[in-house]
Amino acid sequence: MIEPLQNFKYDLEASAAKNLPGGTAREVTIDEFPIAASMAGVSMRLQPGALRELHWHAIAAEWAYVVKGNVRTTVLAPSGEAEQNDFGPGDVWYFPKGHPHVLQGVGPEECHFVLVFDDGHFSEFGTFSITDWWAQTPPEILSRNTGLSAEVIARLPKQEAYIVQGKIPPRQQEAFRNGNPSPSQHSHKFRLGEREPYTWEGGEERVVDTAEFPISTTITGVILNLKKGGLRELHWHPNADEWQSYIMGRAQVGIFGAHGRSKVEQFGPGQVAFIKQGFGHYLQQVGDEATQILITFNSPTYQEISLSTWLSNNPAQIIADNFGLSLKEVAQMPKTKLAIAGPHHR
Ligand SMILES: [Fe+2]
Ligand SMILES: [Fe+2]
Repeated sequence: MIEPLQNFKYDLEASAAKNLPGGTAREVTIDEFPIAASMAGVSMRLQPGALRELHWHAIAAEWAYVVKGNVRTTVLAPSGEAEQNDFGPGDVWYFPKGHPHVLQGVGPEECHFVLVFDDGHFSEFGTFSITDWWAQTPPEILSRNTGLSAEVIARLPKQEAYIVQGKIPPRQQEAFRNGNPSPSQHSHKFRLGEREPYTWEGGEERVVDTAEFPISTTITGVILNLKKGGLRELHWHPNADEWQSYIMGRAQVGIFGAHGRSKVEQFGPGQVAFIKQGFGHYLQQVGDEATQILITFNSPTYQEISLSTWLSNNPAQIIADNFGLSLKEVAQMPKTKLAIAGPHHR
């Protein structure tokens, strides 16, 4: 008995938020979205000065894309090398599993960023935060480790703070407590929005994988812009699951799961889609507005096989015989990669 296809749509922005002075976070994990066993997502907003406190993720790496505003991060590697970076719209960061980090809104407006993790069991809300750890540590141990007195320790947060309102940092990055170290040799930042796009008739895509962004060894990202009427052609990914975050506009997505199984859903801003490795799919822009989608994959490299590439790399007679077509009919099919068909493509 073949199981029906699972739901592959979740409305992240419509879900209940964790609301704190200084910011909000919404998350989607395997609990809310069972199909996504291998990936999870968060949508976070921070006011100027607000901190997503010092923390790490025990079981997942973090890949982020800034949608709006500016955010500053500081991250430490096991080598002892630390890096501070400022991010604006279109910029990407990647923090390997277990590397501790902190995020801060730097203003002048609220910042908004979308996070993707490479494990669906990950929970951003159940992550390893420093206030939570300190609250769980005997005061005398904490005092010996931090040099703080018992009176000071008694004033610390009693549970995880998660997001706290801090002071707006100066425009110039501040020195670390140990003196400003030399610049990191392993950048956690990639300016995806500045990248030269691949341009097609119906839209464009910017891709970053580990070839250009060496630190990102487990997640690959794409920003896809579909023009009105654009169609990202039938394709699949041999090496990865696909997580889509809808930023602007709308698209209809059809997936194919073999054995006569398929599903179609429509997506808009704040919604996410999950497509399993090897499943066939297409994306068709719908509505009056151009559509922008952030697409991530749980693999170090970007691989895809498009229908037009496949069928143009076969003898015409094979295609004709496979479908019961004449050679004249087969000649109408594209002979090169279509990728993103334009609105006027027949
Ligand atoms: Fe994090
Ligand atoms: Fe895809």
